[in-house]
Amino acid sequence: MTARPASPAASPTGSTDAAITRELEAWFPAAARALPWRTSPRDPYNALVAEAMLQQTQVSRVIDRYTAFIARFPRVNDLAGASEGDVLAMWSGLGYYRRARLLHAAAKAIVTDHHGVVPHDPEVLRSLQGVGRYTAGAITSIAFDRPAPIVDGNVRRVLMRLHGRAFAPDDRDAERWAWTRASELVHASASPAVFNEALMELGATVCVPPPAAPRCDQCPWAGRCNARREGTTNQIPAPKAAAKQRVVCCISLLARDARGRFLVEQRPSSGMWAGMWQLPTLERETRWPDDAAIRDFAAIRGLNLPTPAEPLGTFTHQTTHRIVRFRVLAASPIACNRKSASRTWVDSFDGLGVSSAQQRALALGITPGRGQTTTPSSRPTPARRSPRR
Ligand code: ADE
Repeated sequence: MTARPASPAASPTGSTDAAITRELEAWFPAAARALPWRTSPRDPYNALVAEAMLQQTQVSRVIDRYTAFIARFPRVNDLAGASEGDVLAMWSGLGYYRRARLLHAAAKAIVTDHHGVVPHDPEVLRSLQGVGRYTAGAITSIAFDRPAPIVDGNVRRVLMRLHGRAFAPDDRDAERWAWTRASELVHASASPAVFNEALMELGATVCVPPPAAPRCDQCPWAGRCNARREGTTNQIPAPKAAAKQRVVCCISLLARDARGRFLVEQRPSSGMWAGMWQLPTLERETRWPDDAAIRDFAAIRGLNLPTPAEPLGTFTHQTTHRIVRFRVLAASPIACNRKSASRTWVDSFDGLGVSSAQQRALALGITPGRGQTTTPSSRPTPARRSPRR
């Protein structure tokens, strides 16, 4: 459990923290979105899965994946006993696959070290892989209704606006201040579960970041919000410089055998899309590989490319740090068996961990509209820049 703050902080408008938190808690029941992990009572394992998925991913993208994941692994023992391939397959399309591996490791540790019971103490939770301060606070408060603070981009923005605190983007005090304030408030709340979730909800649906306009008319704190009074809502928090994105160029080969199966490979166990399955894909930083390199790459896999190569289409996939350009080419098998542990022929991607970019590459070969060029692609919504909603 986190230590209770020494003295309750005075509010910007003179009310006690208890009064402030009651306002938000009273607002939440009618304002809360119906989300599949918001069950009554809350299940700590379900909360762990939801919070792992919600790291860096928007709520709307998580909903279906969460439901399918829980149906496949209903209890922590089911997840702990699953193969990594099955876990990654159930994570398909969510991006940031490292989270799936860490969640899997956390489930195993809960079974082996905690008798299959999700711990409630945030310090113990943080010993689990993939569980940082935010996730530990979320599970302790939401699943166990115990006071532990949470701060993510949404919460930070709400608190900074409420107090009219315009920290510079690189000011490290901002983070410290936000955690302190979140801790003071959650300790003053009637229900840490309701208060923390209401705080998340307010940031996600009402006190939204630019370019959307905050819906102050719906905010239970509108009357006490310093930023609103001072007209600084849109300057808080101060915008960060955009992250520099690397460009990666990928040639994916779509080869079908006589039975209509296509060749897939597993990516290395580290780096981008680690361990995921894909069409054979040649990657280069910044520029496209030349024709000879593509043909060599194909030949090593027992594949032939027509001359000239037949493009099935191109598209661009963006992440926080990368702009990944794809060109999908049709290829045909020339040699019989080029299978290995990490390369095989399959009828579909079903049951394999596959990135949404590769789902798209395959779709270019099997759906109408071949040869189209599309940009930009789905974006796996990195929370650091686009907050969860
Ligand atoms: N973002 C992070 N955790 C969340 C939760 N439990 N509900 C809604 N959005 C969230």
